[in-house]
Amino acid sequence: MSEPTSPESNPHLTLVDHPLVQHKLTLMRAKATSTATFRQLLREISLLLGYEALRTLPLTDTVIETPMQEMKAPVLAGKKLAVVSILRAGNGLLDGILELAPSARVGFVGLYRDEETLKPVQYYCKVPSDLADRPVLALDPMLATGNSSVAAVDLLKEKGAQDIRFLCLLAAPEGVARMKEAHPDVKIVTASLDEKLNEKGYIVPGLGDAGDRMFGTK
Ligand code: URA
Repeated sequence: MSEPTSPESNPHLTLVDHPLVQHKLTLMRAKATSTATFRQLLREISLLLGYEALRTLPLTDTVIETPMQEMKAPVLAGKKLAVVSILRAGNGLLDGILELAPSARVGFVGLYRDEETLKPVQYYCKVPSDLADRPVLALDPMLATGNSSVAAVDLLKEKGAQDIRFLCLLAAPEGVARMKEAHPDVKIVTASLDEKLNEKGYIVPGLGDAGDRMFGTK
């Protein structure tokens, strides 16, 4: 296992410490929070995290006419964003991101863990064909061991993606270290770097199983 990491030792990790993000995250962590409230908060927090994750999208100037005069003004450059949800919990972040970037193309990657090898196995992959030309925002609320997140990024790179950002709600130091080792070019944006993983691979203090919390399953 690699060295744990901190925001200071990893310039590729952005911790979004905005008070609104931290407040919403606390409500989401609390086990008494209902499924409906959890889902609503996840949508709200995804807007705030997405704002930060997309801060470095490239701009270009275009000429427009305001009611007063002609001017050069910035617009997003190049092809539209591709957003890739890592199933199933990534879907909880998707609606909010699509509100920020309504023209984004959307892909889905499904992975499960083989109980014998403990390695992630792909069961679904449908992504835009021109990933190489687009900034890609990969969504998964929990960066825990990093195994499935790294496998998803492997897959996106196999499909041509070159500019990948990884958006999560919570990250464990182990997952951040694993991603940094496997994909040092991938920038991680998260609301919190939690303490550690427990023996079952859950983030602690964490918020439990993100998929179960957002979909009301157990
Ligand atoms: N996935 C989750 O949903 N929760 C964790 O704590 C770790 C992985």
